[in-house]
Amino acid sequence: MKQPKIVILTGAGISAESGLATFRDNNGLWEDHQIEDVATPQAFLRDPELVYRFYNARRAQLQRADVQPNAAHKSIAELQQRLGDNVTIITQNVDNLHERGGSHNVLHMHGTLLSYRCLSSHQQVYYTAPYDSNTRCHCCDPGSKVRPDIVWFGETPKYMQTIMTALSQADMFIAIGTSGQVYPAAGFVEIARDSNVHSVEINLQSAANKDLFDETWQGPASETVPAFFNTFLKTLS
Ligand code: APR
Repeated sequence: MKQPKIVILTGAGISAESGLATFRDNNGLWEDHQIEDVATPQAFLRDPELVYRFYNARRAQLQRADVQPNAAHKSIAELQQRLGDNVTIITQNVDNLHERGGSHNVLHMHGTLLSYRCLSSHQQVYYTAPYDSNTRCHCCDPGSKVRPDIVWFGETPKYMQTIMTALSQADMFIAIGTSGQVYPAAGFVEIARDSNVHSVEINLQSAANKDLFDETWQGPASETVPAFFNTFLKTLS
C-alpha cells in the first residue's frame, strides 16, 4: 500500500504540557511587555538588551530539568520513524522538544533558541549559553555582534519553499496546538485545501481558523495526538 504523505505543523500548545508557556496565555505579556514588542526588528534596534533578556529567559526555561518532551512530541517521532520521509514536521516553536522526543529534520520556521545569528555574516551558530550585546561571533575577525536566531514579526519565516512543496504534495495536513493567528503558518490550512489535502486540527481550544479544517480533535496534546495517530496508523495496517 502506498504510504501517505503527512505534513504536521506544531505551535506552542504542543509544548505547554512540557512546562513552556504558550504565547497568548497570560494575555501575551512578558514583564509587562507585549510579546510583539520584544519580538520585532524594531524592538531589537530600540532596546537590544531587553530583547536579549527575553530570549535568554526563554532559553533558561527550556534548559530546566523538568522541561521534557511529552507524549505528543514522542508520538510524532514514532510516526516519523514509521513513515520516514513521508512525514514533514514544521514547527513554529523555538524549543528543541521535537528533537529531544526523537524527531529529526524538523523545520523550525521561526528559528531556534539554541543558536545565534552573526549580524555581519548572518551565519547561524549552535549556542546554548546566554548572549547579549557584548557577545562576539567567531566567524568574523574581529568578531561581530550577534542576534537571536529567531524570526521576528515582520521577517520572512525559514524553509518556505520546502514547506509549500510539502503542502502541495501531501495527503494530510495536521495542525497541533497553534492558535491560527500568525501568518504565514495560519494560512497553511488554506493551501492544503486548495490542493485537496485532508486537514486536521488538534487543539485544547478551537483555533481562530478552525472552520477551515475538515476534522477537529479537541483536548490536551499529550492525549489527543497519540490517540489520533494510533487511530490513523490502524487504517494503514
Ligand atoms: N494541548 C493542545 N493545545 C494547547 C494546549 C495543550 N495542552 N495548551 C494550549 N493549547 C493551544 C491553545 O488553545 C492555542 O490555540 O495552543 C495554542 C497556542 O497558541 P499561541 O500561544 O498563539 O501559539 P502559536 O500558535 O504557536 O503562536 C504562533 O506567534 O508569537 C508568535 O512566533 C510566535 O511561533 C509563535 C507564533
